[in-house]
Amino acid sequence: MAQLYVRNIRDAFGAEITGLDPRSDFDGETRRVLRQLFDQRGLLLFAGIDIDFEYQDKLCRMLIGDDGPGTAGQRDPIYVSNREPGGYAPYGRLMFHADMMWHPQPFQVLSLYAVNVEPGCATTTVASGTCAWELLPASLRARVDGHHALHSTGQVYSRGGDDLLRPEREHEESSIKPIAYRHPRTGKTILYVSQQMTREIVGLPHDESEELLQALFSHLYGPATAYEHTWRTGDLLVFDNIAMQHARGNVDLNGPTRTLRKVIAPIPKLSIERPRYTKPGEQKK
Ligand SMILES: [Fe+2]
Repeated sequence: MAQLYVRNIRDAFGAEITGLDPRSDFDGETRRVLRQLFDQRGLLLFAGIDIDFEYQDKLCRMLIGDDGPGTAGQRDPIYVSNREPGGYAPYGRLMFHADMMWHPQPFQVLSLYAVNVEPGCATTTVASGTCAWELLPASLRARVDGHHALHSTGQVYSRGGDDLLRPEREHEESSIKPIAYRHPRTGKTILYVSQQMTREIVGLPHDESEELLQALFSHLYGPATAYEHTWRTGDLLVFDNIAMQHARGNVDLNGPTRTLRKVIAPIPKLSIERPRYTKPGEQKK
């Protein structure tokens, strides 16, 4: 197998891996090691590697056991970018969330590859819901015991500020899940609420729900369970989209270039409405 070197990013989650050779196929031992690291650590960082769309797609699928032929050649890559024409989420700040948290079955792997980034561009922070559950104080654990939360598309703007990206969709989607959510692949328990997408704790009065959510957010997004990544061109972050959440600082259309190629796995079967964005300065208050 390729000689891989592993460094823990945080005590309980995250692994930086060096030694991966994108020019050769994954052998059996490399697959086993990377899958195990992904399930155990939730976040993999490969710094300064040169990979194309097909390789990124193959790596993401491999991590969840899909070694079949990819479809990267049949679709266009997605760019999260303030430069690329038609780039996703081209400006603004994003609060913590897991993509499609509002769907009964969110996709499992989310990867971002820095195609072209300039110094000073917004960082990405990844937080571990698995670690947050393991480290949750007993008093908070007792308060969420047996409770469910409602998650929906869009953002809860009252938790953010004027710099938030404001997506608009025709149709609002939502789902209800246990706050102590069992990961469908690893079986680990996750603290499953997010700043951006969780509307409320079902069955609690609004003020009590919001107060409890804020206490959970303070814990979930604290230094023991979050990692802030400063981008350099060639960095690849791959994380478990169910166990982990992500957020980013404010992106300015005229600020440093920030173009990240986003690849997910598996590809959702449903067609997801692409949001529209209002331009900075035209945002609703
Ligand atoms: Fe996202």
